[in-house]
Amino acid sequence: MISFARGVPAPECLAVEELAECARAALEGDGRTILSYGPGGGYGPLREALAELHGVEANRIVVTSGSLQGFAFLAERLVHSGTRVLVESPTYDRPLKILARLGAEIVTVPMDEDGLVPDELPEGDFAFLYTIPTFQNPSGRTLSLERRRRLAEIARERGLLVLEDDPYGLVRYDGEPLPSVFKLAGGEGVAYCSSFSKTVAPGVRVGWYVLPAELAAEIEALAVSTYISPPYLSQATVLEFLRRGNFESNLERVNGLLRERRDAMLEALARVMPDDAIWTRPEGGYFVWLELPSGPPAAELLAEAEQAAVTFVKGSDFFPGGRGGERALRLAFSFVSPEEIAEGVSVLGSLVRAAAAAAL
Ligand SMILES: Cc1ncc(COP(=O)(O)O)c(C=O)c1O
Repeated sequence: MISFARGVPAPECLAVEELAECARAALEGDGRTILSYGPGGGYGPLREALAELHGVEANRIVVTSGSLQGFAFLAERLVHSGTRVLVESPTYDRPLKILARLGAEIVTVPMDEDGLVPDELPEGDFAFLYTIPTFQNPSGRTLSLERRRRLAEIARERGLLVLEDDPYGLVRYDGEPLPSVFKLAGGEGVAYCSSFSKTVAPGVRVGWYVLPAELAAEIEALAVSTYISPPYLSQATVLEFLRRGNFESNLERVNGLLRERRDAMLEALARVMPDDAIWTRPEGGYFVWLELPSGPPAAELLAEAEQAAVTFVKGSDFFPGGRGGERALRLAFSFVSPEEIAEGVSVLGSLVRAAAAAAL
């Protein structure tokens, strides 16, 4: 199976040897702390390093077992049955599932190629707005600088809490980095989260939140009552990786591997897709969003593609209640090789053209 469904790094992206050395060094250096219970908000020295990175006090940082676990805690704290929450349309499917499970009323914000449209934020009271401004999952879109400023401004004016999820910000191959909405808002009124899943390894399960101090304490209490303390060995290993300077060199290497894959995906799409097909051209991240206005429904295309050993995620999975994106596909280029990308996209192109011919 050629999988455009897996939004994970290709195996060769993972720095196994370096991480093994870091784990050993972390245990030898601070083993008695790492191997015990401790604060639910994370390994102290990593919390401090992240606090310094963001220019905040360490009591505003919560290091969670992957950033999705932090989302689940935050949602548990802020959402009850009927609570209104704003999300981009489309958005990452796992938070949608968590919100639906808690009974949230999910309200969507429209997007275009420059990301969410701040001036179209629905009126009313919302627990928070969940946004992925850079190389969004699933669309690969990035919120423009102007819109980042506008979003920070609107959030302040309306007293709307924005949760900025930024796991892909450093996974950039071209172009200039943009400031986070958190930074533009001066660190107030915007909660920020990121993860080492895409920059180090998903299996370390280390994500982090920058929150108002009171909310951070509440999330830490939820963490304690869920798992007592997070796995410090992972967190200390990541810290050692940062301290040794492995992080930057590894990121450069990984971004090089991913750039080849992104290029292979864009070249293949240009070669095989019909003229009316539209797709995003991200400067980083893992995903391309492909729309086939006159193509077959993505669910049908998926069933046929899987028969031909190619898979992807259908667009409707990224809309609340599956309403939207019927003719859209999320294509992850992060996991498969450039050769597999060329082959898999050719298969998709043939199926799309065959469906168009059959419809004539
Ligand atoms: C936008 C977004 N947020 C969060 C996550 C989850 O990250 P973690 O592995 O840190 O839980 C992902 C993973 O794909 C993602 O795409």
